[in-house]
This record gives sequence, structure tokens and C-alpha cells, in this order.
Amino acid sequence: MGRGFLFTFEGIDGCGKSTQINLLSQALTDDGISISVFREPGGTRIAEAIRQVLLNPRNMDMSYESEALLMAASRAQLLRETVIPNLESGKVVLCDRYVDSSLAYQGSGRGLPLEWLRAINRLAFESAVPDITFLLDIAVESAMNRLGTGLRDRMESSGTDFLERVRNGFSALAEENPDRYIVLNGEMAQELLVEKILSHVRKLIL
Ligand code: TYD
Repeated sequence: MGRGFLFTFEGIDGCGKSTQINLLSQALTDDGISISVFREPGGTRIAEAIRQVLLNPRNMDMSYESEALLMAASRAQLLRETVIPNLESGKVVLCDRYVDSSLAYQGSGRGLPLEWLRAINRLAFESAVPDITFLLDIAVESAMNRLGTGLRDRMESSGTDFLERVRNGFSALAEENPDRYIVLNGEMAQELLVEKILSHVRKLIL
């Protein structure tokens, strides 16, 4: 494991991760800390190409197994190309989604076996375990309201029952990994939320 720090952000679609990551990045940069920010699926040229295939609403006939393997492929590329080298050089890495999203979405959401998902994502479990995973928990109804009525990508079209299972999956992961997870109410005011996240991050890295 590298000398840097890996912070990951998880939660159902519309939970507010991206806003929090932006606010946190700004605050850490103001502190003079050099950070790298990535999103999954994606984050490198090849991984972004995989993301296009995954999220394209024309690909509604994609099998759940293909979906899981493409998520893992995107992650393997991101890890080898950027996350692992960054951690080895002592950097602070922020990731908008990581392997827990595969366990929650493809495992709890789609019903694929967790042990198979762990196996195809072994690189992540062996080479880059997050120092802290922030779970922004929000009710499915609020998430749906935030997503609005606009065009949805392939994953966002999976429906409310699916998102309920994903939300429960994340909660179960948080319970199983209390040393790594910090669960926060995603419906809290954004400025309050980022202060809480910042205090956990600063405690670890400063
Ligand atoms: P994105 O538009 O980035 O959603 P968000 O802003 O909510 O993160 O799309 C990523 C979608 O892919 C999102 O619906 C979650 C899903 N996903 C998985 O199903 N498995 C995974 O392993 C990852 C990383 C994402």
C-alpha cells in the first residue's frame, strides 16, 4: 500500500457526492494540500471510453455480468494508470465512487454474487483500500427529486426499487466496515456537510 491517502465517496445517484467533492477539493487546495480527484466509472481516457458504453441508454440490453465486468475493467485501468502511482508518491486521492459501488449496485442492486464481484475487483481490495469511505445517505425519494425529470442515463433508469436495494447495500457495507466508513446524512446543508468531511480528512492527513 502506498504512502498517500485514499478517500472515497459513495451513495445512491443524486446523493450530492459531486458537490461535496468539489467543496472539499477547494478547501484542501486552499490548505496547500496537493490532491488528485477521479470519478468512476471513468477517470482516464480508456476508462472514460468504457463509461460511455456503460451509461449509454441505447445499451439497455447489456447483461448484468457485462455491466459488472466493465465497471471492474474501468476500475483496473484507473488503479494502474493513476490511483496506485498517486498513492505511491504520497498524494491525497479523492474518488467519486469506488469498489463499494460495485458491491452495492451490481451486488445488492442487480443480485450478482458478492464473492464473484470481490474476485473480479481483487486489484482494488489488494492494492488500494480507502482510508475513509464517506457514505452520503439520502432517501430514495429525495434522490429522485434531485435527479428531476430530465433525460436519465442507463443506470439512472433502473427505478426506485433498484435504488432502495442499492441504498440498503451501502448501509450493510458501512455496518460491516465500521473502521473505514463514515455515514453522513446527505440531506444536511451542503456547508455543514463539507465541514464534517473536512474535519475527518484533516485529522488523518495533517
Ligand atoms: P454518474 O452519472 O457518475 O452517477 P453519480 O453522479 O450518481 O455518481 O454514473 C455512475 C453510475 O454508475 C451510477 O448510477 C452508479 C453506477 N455505478 C455502478 O453501478 N457500479 C460501479 O461500480 C460504479 C463505480 C458506478
